Amino acid sequence: MTNEVRIVEVSPRDGLQNEKTLLPPDIKIALIDRLSATGLRTIETTSFVSARWVPQLADAAEVFRSIRKVPGVTYPVLVPNEQGYRIARQAGANEVSVFTAASEAFNRANINASIAESLERFQPVLEEAKAEGVKVRGYVSTALGCPYQGEVPIADVVSVARRLYDMGCYEVSVADTIGVGTPAKARAVLHAVSQEIPMHALAVHFHDTYGQALANILACLEEGVRVVDSAVSGTGGCPYAKGASGNVASEDVVYMLHGMGMQTGINLDMLVATGAWLSGQLNKPTASRVTKARTTT
Ligand code: HMG
Ligand code: MG
Repeated sequence: MTNEVRIVEVSPRDGLQNEKTLLPPDIKIALIDRLSATGLRTIETTSFVSARWVPQLADAAEVFRSIRKVPGVTYPVLVPNEQGYRIARQAGANEVSVFTAASEAFNRANINASIAESLERFQPVLEEAKAEGVKVRGYVSTALGCPYQGEVPIADVVSVARRLYDMGCYEVSVADTIGVGTPAKARAVLHAVSQEIPMHALAVHFHDTYGQALANILACLEEGVRVVDSAVSGTGGCPYAKGASGNVASEDVVYMLHGMGMQTGINLDMLVATGAWLSGQLNKPTASRVTKARTTT
């Protein structure tokens, strides 16, 4: 099994979408440009969603157009429907992510659609993307628990993941939206999904609400996953998932992976500097233990 892990950095999108104070586009552009210099290969840049639903990312087109596109780095953006896909394409996006959930009530709260309706909305997106050579990633939210429903049957996660993959998503990210999962559960869900979708086409996306994210990632690495979503400074959270806190901090994931002899291609010092800079911009302490350890005297 390969020792290389690809980190999907989601701070510019997941990390910022829940911030109440609107950040100017320049700060977002600076964040993405700094991340691009760290060795990251995938940076989820913004969301082309309704500005009424996520005001923080209303500047998506401006930000996307203005960032420095470093060769070898991909800059996927979130789209909930065909309208978002078209606007993203006009701004120059050539990779997009669609998102749905394994539980109905959360999906309704997040994108005002049932799971089936959301998949129907993705169909034209996947078709246009295929015709235009655009890669599409898929997210399955609430894979380890739902803020409304509580437990989510593993079979429901598997069936939504399978639908996304069958529709043409090249990668499916299994998400613990509210950070309630524990390692055995995370591993069991990933294992079940990997019976239907090849492991190389799977990613894990864990929020750290209960402090379990690194342990969950380790369990999933042991199970074979090699793509991990994370956000510098542990930023993040879905505005429509009550109780959700930040993503696992990229600095902490990279520190763990390098300590295990795994390769990410990322310069940890630059990642730490970027995380510390971002927490300064947001005027809140970093949630990364590594950044805390390295930047406090
Ligand atoms: P709706 O109100 O049901 O949609 O929202 P609608 O089709 O009736 O449209 C309403 C208005 O939105 C219309 O404008 C549309 O033009 C506009 P109006 O005529 O009222 O002026 N609109 C759009 N504008 C810009 N871009 C678009 C777009 N689509 C419609 N793409 C909708 C449905 C999906 C639009 C809305 O619910 C929405 O934008 N939701 C996004 C919620 C969101 O971004 N959540 C956070 C990301 S998901 C997440 O964080 C989880 C993840 O990290 C994994 C995990 O941790 O679980 C990925
Ligand atoms: Mg998330």
